[in-house]
Amino acid sequence: MTQTETRSPHFGREATAATYRDIHLPRVFAPWARILLEIVPPRPGDAVLDVATGPGTVARPAAAKAGPSGRVTGVDLSAAMLGVARSFPPEPQSAPIEYLESPATSIPLPDASFDRAYCQQGLQHMSDPGAALREIRRLLKPGSRLAVAIWQQSPFSLFRQVVADLGIAAEGAQPSTFGRDPGELTRALKQAGFTEVEVQTRQLESVLEGGIPQALEVAVATSAGAGMGNLSSADQERVRAALSRALQPLVKPDGVHLISISSIASATCA
Ligand SMILES: C[S@@+](CC[C@H](N)C(=O)[O-])C[C@H]1O[C@@H](n2cnc3c(N)ncnc32)[C@H](O)[C@@H]1O
Repeated sequence: MTQTETRSPHFGREATAATYRDIHLPRVFAPWARILLEIVPPRPGDAVLDVATGPGTVARPAAAKAGPSGRVTGVDLSAAMLGVARSFPPEPQSAPIEYLESPATSIPLPDASFDRAYCQQGLQHMSDPGAALREIRRLLKPGSRLAVAIWQQSPFSLFRQVVADLGIAAEGAQPSTFGRDPGELTRALKQAGFTEVEVQTRQLESVLEGGIPQALEVAVATSAGAGMGNLSSADQERVRAALSRALQPLVKPDGVHLISISSIASATCA
């Protein structure tokens, strides 16, 4: 994993990728991928690019929509995340998926080779998101479509707040605020050469049915909690206790309810 390319090196860890696969993916990111693909659906036969694919969250349902005559390429910097993506068996009626380990700013593929591109919750983790958008544009055919999702309110923002309030430094760089403001996201897409830019705001509620213990597992796998392992056991206990208190108001009979609000931008490659 190239540390200079990402603000969130914790995605390179096997343990983070495993927690992401087991908890985050089905409860948070897969439901969001369905919304993203409703807004800009792949067509049968399309060539689809999923940048910062992680465990193939958008790539797999996009492959189902593109069908056997399509093709999908998922790109990510993290070998651990791509290991999870590759562990899912291919679906018979889906497009074949190829996973490529590469930074989003220099993807080793020819110009104008895709009909659809997606990037779900990836740009804020990149060191140079503007360069990534220009690279995606290079890879898109004229008239093709892009959809990008960036949190306005991350479901994990509470974890970040608790760690910050305790005065405990989170590990490494943290995600940037790139694109959190829909106006800024629109401008960045236009600067990268996209037209017909539209930003929608959507909200989703995810339930962690395993309650506070499951929420604590999620917290450790976020960038805010990634440094937990380096803390003394007393400090780890302080963080767990503070997180448990902060999560209490979100507990309902069926689990911890996390709210996320995301901008979803759609655009055309001129
Ligand atoms: C929050 S995850 C989102 C993954 C996936 N899109 C999803 O919706 O589940 C962010 C992903 O961005 C990847 N990433 C971070 N910086 C990157 C970069 N510069 N180039 C490519 N991928 C990057 C991480 O490895 C991680 O898999």
